[in-house]
Amino acid sequence: MISPGRAELWIPQHAGSPVLEVRGLSVTFTTESGTVSAVDNVDLSLAQGEIVGIVGESGCGKSVTGMSLAGLLPDSARVCGSVRLQGVELIGAPQSTLRAARGQDIAYVFQEPMSSLNPVLTVGQQIGEVLQAHRGLSRKKALARAVELLTLVGIPSPLRRVDSYPHQLSGGMRQRVMIAMAIACEPKVLVADEPTTALDVTVQAGILDVLRELRDRLGTTILFITHDLGVIADVADRVMVMYAGRVVERAPVDELFARPQHHYTAGLLVATPTPGRHAGTDRLQEIPGLVPVLSIQPDACTFAERCPAADAQCLASAPALTSGRHMADSGDMTGMAEITDVADMANMASLPPGHLVACWHPCGQPSAQRRWAGT
Ligand SMILES: Nc1ncnc2c1ncn2[C@@H]1O[C@H](COP(=O)(O)OP(=O)(O)OP(=O)(O)O)[C@@H](O)[C@H]1O
Ligand code: SF4
Ligand SMILES: [Mg+2]
Repeated sequence: MISPGRAELWIPQHAGSPVLEVRGLSVTFTTESGTVSAVDNVDLSLAQGEIVGIVGESGCGKSVTGMSLAGLLPDSARVCGSVRLQGVELIGAPQSTLRAARGQDIAYVFQEPMSSLNPVLTVGQQIGEVLQAHRGLSRKKALARAVELLTLVGIPSPLRRVDSYPHQLSGGMRQRVMIAMAIACEPKVLVADEPTTALDVTVQAGILDVLRELRDRLGTTILFITHDLGVIADVADRVMVMYAGRVVERAPVDELFARPQHHYTAGLLVATPTPGRHAGTDRLQEIPGLVPVLSIQPDACTFAERCPAADAQCLASAPALTSGRHMADSGDMTGMAEITDVADMANMASLPPGHLVACWHPCGQPSAQRRWAGT
């Protein structure tokens, strides 16, 4: 539990204009064996105090998306598009701008705290270093603030723990220390990349509580990266499903779980354990096949090889991420014109605002159901 106090930092959720705006973000890597297209044309807008989840299987581009926002990609990465943090463009910005933004305005929590913490410094020294470097605090004040931060992330006996070395802490406590370091300068945006994957379920629940309370008390915007839809259901307000570098579906979390539209999302949901549903002999179904590693993004649906509803149209052109309602409201039917089934068109138009899907024959739509049934 985050301790009470610091009420002056409480900020209402979702207030004002977006904190972070991403437009047309694409990332390719140059490797010895050729080019890898990791992220393709991602748009994303984060409001203050919201928690947005990115979900997808291994290799879908979740971490590369998150790292490109925080300017953490290696030199072999070529990044295109726009990332504006509180109106300041970060793509192509000078190193000094990126250094100032990193830690102060946007911070990153990695999955494995042991590889990110320095084993020969106490956690107090490590948190203190961040505050001395970015906030110009004296050593003494930085250490006092480190104790406050350890309290904030729910470390028991913080006065004693501040002098501990990383190896003296449990995995869950090390992850809390990583979060304390990340929020030391009260960043506007926190990218949490699989922060609970290596932890057992009860410790995981504690970390999710910490993140929720950070959002509630400090108004921190959180981008939560995971392969686990169960965690997304627990923590996120909105969710973005990625497949092979592209966003294939985006929706408020309840809407996504109630009415998944992309066949990949539906496959992930079927593969997610649900209490009671798989008791006895009922087995979880895996999505057959693997996420492709692409050198160039094709003009086709990249999920087609694994999709039971794929047809010639899916192989001939890439569906845009779109909401039927939006198109109907704006009168811009670009994309809808390609949906040839009249019943599908009506179903697309019934999607609520904010639910977008990149699929020619979304799940639940009559033509897709006919394909699943083989009729
Ligand atoms: N430094 C790099 N050089 C070359 N290719 C890379 C590099 N980093 C990532 N990739 C490739 O980019 C793609 C997306 O990787 P990314 O790490 O974003 O996946 P992910 O969705 O985070 O997966 P995971 O769940 O395993 O963490 C993968 O094909 C990966 O191999
Ligand atoms: S129906 Fe077509 S466009 Fe939709 S997910 Fe399947 S292959 Fe992709
Ligand atoms: Mg990753």
